[in-house]
Parts: sequence; C-alpha cells; structure tokens
Amino acid sequence: MSLIDYIDQDRLPKHIAIIMDGNGRWATSKGFERGEGHKEGVRAISRAVEAASKASVQYLTLYAFSTENWNRPEDEVNGLMDLMVYAISEETEELKKNGVKITCIGDMTRLPEYARTALIKCIRETETGKCITLNIALSYSSKWELTEATRKITDDVLKGVLNKDDISEETISMYLTTSGIPDPDLLIRTGGEQRMSNFLLWQCAYAEFYFTEVYWPDFGEKDLYEAIIDYQGRERRFGKISEQIELNCFESKPDEEQ
Ligand code: FPP
Repeated sequence: MSLIDYIDQDRLPKHIAIIMDGNGRWATSKGFERGEGHKEGVRAISRAVEAASKASVQYLTLYAFSTENWNRPEDEVNGLMDLMVYAISEETEELKKNGVKITCIGDMTRLPEYARTALIKCIRETETGKCITLNIALSYSSKWELTEATRKITDDVLKGVLNKDDISEETISMYLTTSGIPDPDLLIRTGGEQRMSNFLLWQCAYAEFYFTEVYWPDFGEKDLYEAIIDYQGRERRFGKISEQIELNCFESKPDEEQ
C-alpha cells in the first residue's frame, strides 16, 4: 500500500494552506545562491499541486510572497518576480490540462506591470479548471487584507449599502480576499519555524496546524500525505467538548452543527 491509501477520503481537508518556508536555507546549505532555492521551490509547488489533486483536496493556498517580502534585497525581489512570471507562463498549458484553476489573493497593485499581466492571463485561461483551485497569496498579508476589508465595509456603510447593525462574522469573511473559498482546515508550515507570519489570520481561526522541519524545496507527495494523515488523527472540537463531537464532525463547522 502507498501512503495515499492511508488517507481517509471521508475526512479530507477541503482546503490546505501552506507557508512554503526554507528556500534560502536549502540553497545555503548546499552552497548555492538563495535564488536556486526559489527555483527548486517552484518544482516543489508542482509536486504539491499534483499530490493534493490526486488526494482530491479541493483548495490549496500557497504563501508565495508576503507584504513584508517587499523589504528583501532588490535583486531577490526582482528574481522572485521573474521566476513567478516564468513559472506561471510555462505551466499554464499543463495547469489547464490537469484541471487546475488559478486564483490569486494579495495587493496586485504593487506587482510590476509585466507580472500582473502574466498573472491575469493565467487566471483567465485556467478559470474553468474543475479538479483543484490553486490560490496563490502574492504581495499578501492578513493585516493588509483586514485593513482593506475595514475600508470597504466603512465605505459601504457610509454609502448606505450596508447597515452597521447587520455586520456579522460572515459579512467580514465576504469582504476578505478569500471570499467564496472555505476556510483552511489544515495549515502546513515547512522549514522548521512555528509562526503564522501574517498569513490568513482570520481564516485559520479553527485550522489545524502542522509544522515540519523539511525545507520547502524538499517537500513532496510523501510529506503532504503525512500531514493529511496527521490531520485526520486530530479531534476538531470547534470549542465544544469531546462528548459532543459526533464521529462525522470532521468536516462540519460550529454553525453547521446546530
Ligand atoms: C520562503 O523561503 C519562500 C519564499 C519567500 C518564496 C516562495 C516562492 C516560490 C517558491 C516561488 C513562487 C512561484 C510561484 C509560481 C507562485 P525563504 O526565502 O524565506 O527561506 P529561508 O527562511 O530559508 O530564508
């Protein structure tokens, strides 16, 4: 039996989010430039998308570039932009063939024009993909997203489109960049660090966290399936006590359990 056979199809995480960390350390440990780690990181993305799709995961969100990453040395930022544009353009046909739908969250206005254009083209060309949604967090941070959502909500209240007393948790979710995408069930961080780094803070309120020492460029199918199997061993209580949790509670959220 291979590892995928140990995954319980009835308790699959619908949405997996990944903080892909360790590209730089992977490269340095091998005596390479940091950029080589990012290039190898792109290959790890292809493996992760293929493995997630094979396991019938519906949404995969990858933290590719944070708001804070704009503060990295200029040549690393430029190298990352070039690499992303190259990878996206090269992979579009393969993504279409494999039913991968690309979506993107983040502050696109900060991207250089050529990167934005390439991304929009890939999003359009893959929009009918039905197997898995690959959501790329680019120029993204949770604090940026929540600030933007607050501005939009305030605008709509002032315009009279939204009543202040009607603002609920669902309203806030609707104003986030992830509107329409279920919250992550499982958050994986590679590279040995154990922090959120400003990623999907609202959406991960009830995500299960999985940290691994494996550097992102080394992450593969086996690592993804180990994370899913570990997740399936957890009891998701959503604030309740064990006795209240029925056997099939894995996919239900507190409000759905009424
Ligand atoms: C974290 O490693 C990784 C990044 C900041 C960039 C990840 C981006 C890619 C793998 C390319 C994305 C491409 C597409 C098509 C979306 P790090 O550099 O922080 O590693 P370190 O902690 O070891 O220094």
